[in-house]
Amino acid sequence: MNDFRPQAVPTIGWHYDRMALALHWISALLLVLMTGLGWYMMEIEHTPRPSRISSCISLWG
Ligand code: HEM
Repeated sequence: MNDFRPQAVPTIGWHYDRMALALHWISALLLVLMTGLGWYMMEIEHTPRPSRISSCISLWG
């Protein structure tokens, strides 16, 4: 007869693989960089001459 009892899921010793960890930390790094860039863009928002970074971003659209 078939046994339909749920199988025990092994959680001890389980871990995310390298790709998941790399993507996690890349996204964390991008988040920090975007926060910094946003802060910088706010600081220079009303300055008369656009910086090289803001011109570069404007070119993107
Ligand atoms: C500045 C951004 C972030 C920082 C500093 C950060 C930091 C961390 C740290 C320190 C851990 C614990 C790692 C460990 O137990 O070894 C963790 C776990 C985790 N993070 Fe982040 N994280 C960030 C962004 C994100 C984002 C954007 C997501 C999802 C979209 C995410 C999803 C997760 C998940 C699901 C775990 C649990 C991993 C586990 O169970 O072992 N994190 N994060």
